[in-house]
Amino acid sequence: MKNRSIILAKRPVGNPKPDDFALHVGELPDIQDSCIQDNEILVKNFAISLDAGFRNWMDEDAGDEVLPAMPLGEPVMGLSLCEVLATKNPEYEVGDKLMARFAWQEYSIGKPGDFIAKLPKDLEFPYSYYLGVLGDTGMSAYFALTEIAPPKEGETVLISAAGGAVGSIAGQIAKIYGARAVGISSSPEKCDFLVNELGYDAAVNRKAPEGQAEAIKAACPDGVDIFLDNVGGETLQAAITNMNHRGRIAMIGAVTHYTAKGAPSAPNNLFELVSKEITAQGFMTHFRHDEYEAVRQQLESWLAEGKLKSFEHKLTGIENVGVAFCQMFEGQNFGKTVVDL
Ligand SMILES: NC(=O)c1ccc[n+]([C@@H]2O[C@H](COP(=O)([O-])OP(=O)(O)OC[C@H]3O[C@@H](n4cnc5c(N)ncnc54)[C@H](OP(=O)(O)O)[C@@H]3O)[C@@H](O)[C@H]2O)c1
Repeated sequence: MKNRSIILAKRPVGNPKPDDFALHVGELPDIQDSCIQDNEILVKNFAISLDAGFRNWMDEDAGDEVLPAMPLGEPVMGLSLCEVLATKNPEYEVGDKLMARFAWQEYSIGKPGDFIAKLPKDLEFPYSYYLGVLGDTGMSAYFALTEIAPPKEGETVLISAAGGAVGSIAGQIAKIYGARAVGISSSPEKCDFLVNELGYDAAVNRKAPEGQAEAIKAACPDGVDIFLDNVGGETLQAAITNMNHRGRIAMIGAVTHYTAKGAPSAPNNLFELVSKEITAQGFMTHFRHDEYEAVRQQLESWLAEGKLKSFEHKLTGIENVGVAFCQMFEGQNFGKTVVDL
């Protein structure tokens, strides 16, 4: 049996490029049980989630408490949606559907200690939702606006990478909580998408000629109460400049830092956190694994009530997984990036 994977062929410099990745064709024994040891499972991945944060672990010295640095020549790590084909682990049955951190490949072997979340037996929504709005993406947006920086009605919530996977859900949740949602994106087309499809009250083009700080000021005349930051760098600096006294920042991620060549020069205005008594808190959904089921139920009810919509940027085929990952860093994705295998 063939097992096709996408391996890390080169360490990306700055934004990832399609030739940083390569297709590798491996073999799996035809008798599926013989692939696995005690307490392991064999799964078939049927969709791969592309998550900008994984760029962070492609650098040589990037290992941390979440993941080790990805080795060259090995399948790239990511989140997948998969089904159990064979099991020697009593916690799993053949046919179980899982959302797991495996690799960009058609078949994976799950070992004890791997990051695995079980999905309901009968999926109520399209399966790709369990990687996006009902997966880590939706969870991040939800945790940011409930545990980290919950808005009060009428407050201004500014969100960077607002048309991406996390941002597209965060804007809608901010509206559910009665906030004024303002999104930052990179083109007039994506700014239209924010306002006309996602329901943001206003949009800021981060490439506007007047600069990000001025563009944010125009879109947030009463200042920014809460900033949900997905990108860091100059965008974070411009947001801090516009924040109100005792504003709150939920630090979700820092796309510009993952791709920076050398130490980032921005933000250079962190003293404003002191002078304006701003609270900034980071978080990882990964460490809130035990809350997933309850949060998923809340997100499912918002979907069923029509308060929340899923927007996806979909490609097909294992050979396109690296391409899809690169497109995210060029801002080509409107919503969650998923590749169907
Ligand atoms: N803390 C957690 O547990 C957790 C979990 C999931 C995700 N995250 C974080 O959430 C963030 C978003 O991830 P995602 O997977 O949802 O990706 P995404 O937002 O779908 O895609 C990344 C977006 O970043 C923006 N971008 C790219 N280069 C940029 C630059 N130089 N400056 C400013 N913006 C740039 C682009 O949007 P525009 O071109 O429209 O600006 C692009 O669409 C990442 O930082 C990720 O690490 C954190």
